[in-house]
Amino acid sequence: MRGRYLIKSLSMTAKPDWFERGFPHLWLPYTQMKAAPEPLAAARTRGSRIVLADGRELVDGIASWWTACHGYNHPHIARAVTRQLGVLPHVMMGGIVQEQAATLAKRLADLLPGDLTRVFFSDSGSVAVEVALKMAVQFWLNKGEHKRKKFVTFRGAYHGDTTGAMSVSDLDAGMHRLFQGLLVEQLVADLPRTEESGALFEQFAERHAGELAGIIVEPLAQGAGGMVFHDADVLRRLRKAADKCGALLIFDEIFTGFGRTGAMFACEAANVVPDIITLSKALTGGTLPLAATVARKHVFDAFWSDDPERALMHGPTFMGNALACAAANASLDLFEQEPRLRQAAAISVMLRRELGACRGLPGVKDVRVLGAIGVVELNEIKDIHALRQAFIAEGVFIRPFGSIVYLTPAFTIGEEDLKKLTDTVVKVVKGKQ
Ligand SMILES: Cc1ncc(COP(=O)(O)O)c(C=O)c1O
Repeated sequence: MRGRYLIKSLSMTAKPDWFERGFPHLWLPYTQMKAAPEPLAAARTRGSRIVLADGRELVDGIASWWTACHGYNHPHIARAVTRQLGVLPHVMMGGIVQEQAATLAKRLADLLPGDLTRVFFSDSGSVAVEVALKMAVQFWLNKGEHKRKKFVTFRGAYHGDTTGAMSVSDLDAGMHRLFQGLLVEQLVADLPRTEESGALFEQFAERHAGELAGIIVEPLAQGAGGMVFHDADVLRRLRKAADKCGALLIFDEIFTGFGRTGAMFACEAANVVPDIITLSKALTGGTLPLAATVARKHVFDAFWSDDPERALMHGPTFMGNALACAAANASLDLFEQEPRLRQAAAISVMLRRELGACRGLPGVKDVRVLGAIGVVELNEIKDIHALRQAFIAEGVFIRPFGSIVYLTPAFTIGEEDLKKLTDTVVKVVKGKQ
């Protein structure tokens, strides 16, 4: 029922030719295309804004699924990619390595805590998770333990859309329940949020030790499963339980990595070193697809052998793509040269202050902030399309899902644009009653 939300009429300007001709051939993600409003036609991006083909300009509240941490079109990244395009856009990684991938691997190894020092590149977050799962299973095979093939995963988890990644996502809560028959059954648990549940979790993990390859978690913030946060103690309990039962601990930092929760990586805030970590999203500053699965030395050592069958059996065609790695190296330059974590901290303060106005409003279940993630959870969203359109009509791009409205802006967003985002959330949530 569209009338439930404040909707200004959208201008009915003509759509560009490329849209008219091309859109009938596009298949959109997570979208019932018959019922959904037509997508927006984007013409350009700049800073924290998306410029539409009809001239409207939207302040972007979610940085293209949490990737564009430096804002759009950062000239330093653009220059690095352009330079690399003229030198070496891509060579396969089988038998050849190039400077950008090697440099990025070294920089990630230096940035990550402990001996997370061996980097396997791929091209999307889901594939990075697939690689992590295969790495863990083959780690045990290489050690002669052939039964350790299962993973503990947590209620509310989301790790991607490929079959392995879906199997470790929360099938009941998430969008993957349709594929239940296709997927390997994993062990699903609640996050151990208290000392007591930590002890119970340890017992649970130990009971399954013989079949357990690993424990996989999104540290500090479950993202696409509903933007639900937990504290660092949970991660320390998981480390302890993993150590006791011998399972590998996998942190999926595809959402949380690169400053989103306030620290460069969520694992640092918890002072916990996982055995494997997955990275993607903001790795290239939101410009090119790239992901990394990074293993600790003892994990890599289990593959180091005279036996060719002990090699990691994975190899995406575009792994370590030089353009994407050049973008990622440039993105890391920006983290070194510009005050990104301070900017994230300032965003956090403002989100807390401004979104606080939603607390106590009818229909609002919770308001929470972690780092540069601001969430207003509603009791329910009856008409998600109408709510999304209401934001667009107000000049912002915010894309609620489930029962939450959230903001994950670029760290470089100006104060005025951030205020526009928070004011609009408050206004639209108020107008909903
Ligand atoms: C924590 C986490 N893991 C994995 C993925 C999957 O990444 P991709 O969409 O690049 O496959 C996502 C995407 O939202 C994510 O948030």
